[in-house]
Amino acid sequence: MGIRIIGTGSYVPDQILTNQALEQMVETSDAWIRERTGIGSRRITKAGTTDMAVKAAKCAVEQAGVLPEELGLIIVGTSTGDCLFPGTACEVQAAIGAKEAACFDLSAACSGFLFSLNTACTYLKSGEYKTALVVGADTLSKTVDWKDRGTCILFGDGAGAAVIRWEDSSGGIGPFIMKADGSRGECLRCSAMPLRNPFLDKEEDVFGYMTMNGQEVFRFAVKTVPEVLEAVLEKAGVLAGDIQYFILHQANERIISSVAKRIRQPVSKFPMNLEHYGNTSGASIPILLDELNRQGKFNRGDKILLAGFGAGLTWGATFLQW
Ligand code: UT7
Repeated sequence: MGIRIIGTGSYVPDQILTNQALEQMVETSDAWIRERTGIGSRRITKAGTTDMAVKAAKCAVEQAGVLPEELGLIIVGTSTGDCLFPGTACEVQAAIGAKEAACFDLSAACSGFLFSLNTACTYLKSGEYKTALVVGADTLSKTVDWKDRGTCILFGDGAGAAVIRWEDSSGGIGPFIMKADGSRGECLRCSAMPLRNPFLDKEEDVFGYMTMNGQEVFRFAVKTVPEVLEAVLEKAGVLAGDIQYFILHQANERIISSVAKRIRQPVSKFPMNLEHYGNTSGASIPILLDELNRQGKFNRGDKILLAGFGAGLTWGATFLQW
């Protein structure tokens, strides 16, 4: 018995924000952004996180060939939902008609999809549910200060989704590893609603933009991602050379190349799409997964590693056999 991905989907908004357009907004250049990050453009939503999550979810459910009523569980990995409540997962449920599904959001920033996938798998393994929809959707464009060239060049909006099912077949998803270090939360942070009540001496009424210590996050990623990949390979009893694709969170081309070098694998095994979408946070892994799937890149039995990292700090990796 194993848990398999039976459908994937993704959605990115139509509006494209190029490096050239950013040159008009902050002191930067297309050459600098490309050289330091690998990013050429990103997408910006005018409709929000739920809209993107629903569109990605519909594609995944359609490809999976399941009825929405068959979904027992919906988890949306997001840190930028349109509302504090209801959760994005509940809104997705209503939009696709998944009446039977238990629904909740999971907040783990850029690790959001990976942690949601692992959580859904654990529920499926418990026998509680047979089929689940896992979505990663984020609107980072509303968290960045568009005057801060250290962050606004990096992020874009999007959503990706996967339908997973407990099946009578070998392989599947797992093992996985999830890690966090809350003591380093300050290096990538965005506050939510400010405190507002009549009992405060002074109300905090300013929405805080994202703040980031880019170099610290970079160092964290290039150290922890190779470590967690090695650890999950050992747990799975698989060699790095046996892996067809390493699907990493799309934050920075230099981070991905450095990880490839550190685990001594060719960078050609590390597909990337960040040139077109930038860092879409919790959406980056499922968007890439869906693109590769729809291009017919995966064969049954292919060994794949997923790895995510981001605010929290959080990071993790998941082994799966297609
Ligand atoms: O999901 C996780 C999310 N976060 C990340 O993945 C962030 C990881 N970190 C990074 O990707 C990189 O640290 C950045 C791309 C954010 C920055 O690249 P860097 O190579 O670490 O640049 P830096 O911060 O060391 O800055 C180098 C120089 C500085 O100028 P001086 O002091 O040398 O004169 C910066 O002021 O580049 C300058 N700079 C820029 N120049 C043009 C910083 N941002 C820009 C910019 N355009 N956008």
